[in-house]
Amino acid sequence: MSERFYLTTPIYYPSDHLHIGHAYTTTVADSLARWHRFAGRDVYFVTGSDEHGQKIQRAAAAKGITPQAYVDEIVASFKHLWNEMNIEYDDFVRTTDHRHHEAVQAVFQRIYDQGDIYKSSYEGWYCTPCETFWVENRLVDGNCPDCKRPVELVEEESYFFRLSKYAPRLLEYIEEHPEFIQPETRRNEMVNFIKSGLEDLCVSRTTFDWGIPVPFDDKHVVYVWFDALTNYLTALGYPHDGEMMDRWWPANLHLVGKEIMRFHTIIWPIMLMALDLPIPETVFGHGWLLFDSDKMSKSKGNVIDPVVLIGEFGVDPIRYFLMREVSFGQDGNFSRKALIERTNADLANDLGNLLNRSLSMLNRYFNGVVPEPLAAPNAVDQALIDYADNLGASVDGLLKELKLNEALSRIWQLVGKANKYVDERAPWNLVKLEDQSELSSVMYNLVETLRIIALLVQPFLPETGAKMWAQLGLEGLETKGLEDAVWGGLASGTQTVKGDPIFPRIEIDKDKAKGERAQEPKPKPSPKPTLKEAEGVLISIDDFMKCELVVAKIMEAEPLKGADRLLKLQVDIGAERRQIVAGIAKHYAPEDLVGMHIVVVQNLKPAKLRGELSEGMLLAATSPQGKLELVTVSPDIPAGSRVK
Ligand code: MSP
Repeated sequence: MSERFYLTTPIYYPSDHLHIGHAYTTTVADSLARWHRFAGRDVYFVTGSDEHGQKIQRAAAAKGITPQAYVDEIVASFKHLWNEMNIEYDDFVRTTDHRHHEAVQAVFQRIYDQGDIYKSSYEGWYCTPCETFWVENRLVDGNCPDCKRPVELVEEESYFFRLSKYAPRLLEYIEEHPEFIQPETRRNEMVNFIKSGLEDLCVSRTTFDWGIPVPFDDKHVVYVWFDALTNYLTALGYPHDGEMMDRWWPANLHLVGKEIMRFHTIIWPIMLMALDLPIPETVFGHGWLLFDSDKMSKSKGNVIDPVVLIGEFGVDPIRYFLMREVSFGQDGNFSRKALIERTNADLANDLGNLLNRSLSMLNRYFNGVVPEPLAAPNAVDQALIDYADNLGASVDGLLKELKLNEALSRIWQLVGKANKYVDERAPWNLVKLEDQSELSSVMYNLVETLRIIALLVQPFLPETGAKMWAQLGLEGLETKGLEDAVWGGLASGTQTVKGDPIFPRIEIDKDKAKGERAQEPKPKPSPKPTLKEAEGVLISIDDFMKCELVVAKIMEAEPLKGADRLLKLQVDIGAERRQIVAGIAKHYAPEDLVGMHIVVVQNLKPAKLRGELSEGMLLAATSPQGKLELVTVSPDIPAGSRVK
C-alpha cells in the first residue's frame, strides 16, 4: 500500500434523508481514514451528494419547490448527520458545485474530442430510481433487474459513450490487477457481466433539464452517473489543479455498496481509460445492511434513522455495531436487539468494566498513580504483554485487507485477555503480600494494556478513545500514532482520573416494548417535514381534516401479558368496534377506563404491538410530573361523533 491514501464513499442521492445503511459505508470509510492517518499515512477522504437527474427533479416537483431548494435542504441534513456521527471528511463534493460543473464538462468534452462520444438516438428502457438504462433482454419480467421496479420506455436523441470498444482492454486490466475489484465474488460477477456483452452507454438526456449541460449542445444534460462518477476527480481540482491530481490520483479505494459496483468497475474505469488517466487501485463492494433480514427501503417502511439512534444510544455504540456485527463484504443484519446486546456485552461489560475495575483498584492500592513495573514478568504477564505489543501491527495488516470486523475482534480479544488477567493475577491477593512489587507490575500491565486499547480503538470509536485517554490521565491523543501503540509507553507516576462508566448498560426490559415496536415493519412514514414546516408548523384546514378524530366509548380494558406499560382496549366508535393497544397501564387501572368517552384517531394505519393488532390511537396529554391524562368528552356525546 502506498503511503498516501485517497478514499471515497459514494455520493448519496438527496432524494431523501439518509438511513443507517448509508451511514454504514461512511462510518467504515471514516474509520479507515482515521486509522490510516493514525498509522502515519497521508489521507484524503471525500464524500458528497449526487444531486442531479430525473429522480431528484421529480421529487422536487412533487413538493412544489425548485430542485435546488429541494437538494439544499436535504444536503444540509447529510452534513448534520456526518457531524453527529463524528465523520471527519476532507472534502464534500456537491454535484451542483460550480467546480464540479466544470470538471464534468471538461471530461465530456475531452472524451468527445477524441472520438469516444458520438451522437445517435436512444430507444430503450430506463429505471428512474436507479437512474439506469437497460436493454430489453436484461429486464426481469419487464422490470428493472436491480430494484425490480417498473422501467419507462425512453426514446430520444442522445450522446453515446463507446463502452463496447473498451471491453477487451478492461477485461485484460481486471485480470492483471486482482486488487482492482474486491471482494473476489464481485470480481467474478463483473467479469461475467462484461463478457456477456457491453453496449455503448447513453450519456445524455433531453427530456428533463436538471443536470449539467453537454458543453457543446445545451439541449442535452449529462447522464447522472457520468456526472456523479466524475466527483472523484472534482475533489482533486480537475481539470485545473495538476498538483492535487499528481498527489492523489489514482484513488486508493472507492468504497461502495454492491449494487453500484457495475458503475464503478465498468463505466468509471472506461471513462478513465478514455481520458488517459490511471485506474483506481481498488473498488470494494460491500454487502447490504438488512433490517431483520429484509432490504431497508422507504416503501417497506423499515428504514432506520441514524440520528434517532444516536440520540438514544450515543454514537460509538452505533459505529461499533456497524463495523463489528457485519462481516465486511457480506450482507449483515441490523436489529435493535442485536445493537443492545452488542453494546452491553462488548462495550459495557468487557471494555467499560475493564477500565472501571482497573482504575478502581489503582485508586485503592496506589491512589490512582501508575506504579513502576518492579517484578520481572511471569508467563501470564508475558503473554498479555506480547499480545498487546503486536496488536497494532496486526490490526494494521487486517485493515489493509479491509477486514474491519476481524480487526475489531482482534482488539476485543485483548480486552478479554486483560479481564481474564485480572482474575488470574488477582491483585486483591497480591496486595496482601509484604513485597508489593508484583502488585505494582500487575497494575502497570493493566493500565498499559488500557492505554494501547485506547489508542487502537480511537480511529473506530473516537469518543471512547478520548474518554479512556482522559481517565488514564494522558494528554495529546491527537498527536499519537501507531508507533505509540507498543508496550512500555506509559510513564510510571501518571495520575489517573477515574470517571463515570463509559458505557452504562442498557436495560433490555425497559427497552422491550419500544424495541419490539421498532422492529415491526412500520406503516409507511409520511415524508419528513421540511425545515420550514418543522419550525412554523402551519397546516391547512384540509391537512387537519385528513386526521379523523372521533369519540370512542371504552367497552373493555385489560392488561397485555408481558408488557407492563400496555393495556388492550375494546372501543366503540359508532359504526364499529375497534381494538386499541395503548401505553397507559401506568396511569389508569383497566376497570376505571370502562365507560369513558375518549377521543381517538380512527384512520391511523393499524399496527401490531406485542403481537396484538392496534387499530387507532387515543389522545392524551402528560403533566410536568409525568402523569398522563386521556382526552375525554362527556357521555352525552355519543360514540362515533366527529371531533373537529
Ligand atoms: N448516487 C449514487 C452513487 C453515486 S457514486 C458516484 C447512489 N446513491 S445512494 O444514495 O443510493 O447511495 C447508495 C449507497 O448507499 C450504496 O452504494 C451503499 O454504499 C449505501 N447504502 C444504501 N443502503 C444501504 C444498505 N441498506 N446497506 C449498506 N449500504 C447501503 O447510489
